Amino acid sequence: MIKKNLNSIPKSKLVLEYGYSIGTVTSSMSNNHDIVFGIDRSFNALRYAKKSSKNNLDYVIDNSLSPVFGKLQFDLILALNILELIEPLELSKHVSRQISTGYFVISDPYDFDRGTNSVKKPINETKLRTNLEQLGFKISSKTKKPSFMPWNLKLNSRATLNYKVDLVIGKKK
Ligand SMILES: C[S@@+](CC[C@H](N)C(=O)[O-])C[C@H]1O[C@@H](n2cnc3c(N)ncnc32)[C@H](O)[C@@H]1O
Repeated sequence: MIKKNLNSIPKSKLVLEYGYSIGTVTSSMSNNHDIVFGIDRSFNALRYAKKSSKNNLDYVIDNSLSPVFGKLQFDLILALNILELIEPLELSKHVSRQISTGYFVISDPYDFDRGTNSVKKPINETKLRTNLEQLGFKISSKTKKPSFMPWNLKLNSRATLNYKVDLVIGKKK
């Protein structure tokens, strides 16, 4: 469902995915958009993602909140399943500085209970939408209402996490 929604976004010149992990989504975005970057702080992620190489696709190792891209403005930024790992309000503020005209896509199950690694200011589906609107994003009509997309994550042969994932697409101008 997320891929279907991503496919409905018009072709962009410059795309960035925060926390790309093994690069599955970043790589598939490079089929539809001009230039695509991923940023992830994990070296192992980079090593894996780099296995699929394309001329219009590149990966950076750094904290997503770092100023590595300077004042570069993106047409589309993706943040999938990372709100638990990067302070959500700092993340949206940072993204907002990187988009003057364009889309911000967030998908998350809001699973904030991570013990000592938990972010300090968790967010929920309502607060996330309000925060994006305060930053100047208009929420797309199809993601105005929180969604509950099933995502069953197999942990081992005896345990599965049954998430219900939300999707928000914000657009500036
Ligand atoms: C749960 S995975 C999500 C991966 C992918 N977006 C997905 O939906 O499958 C989180 C990823 O974010 C990365 N990450 C966590 N904190 C980060 C940060 N501050 N800056 C950049 N990447 C970060 C991790 O290394 C990991 O690859």
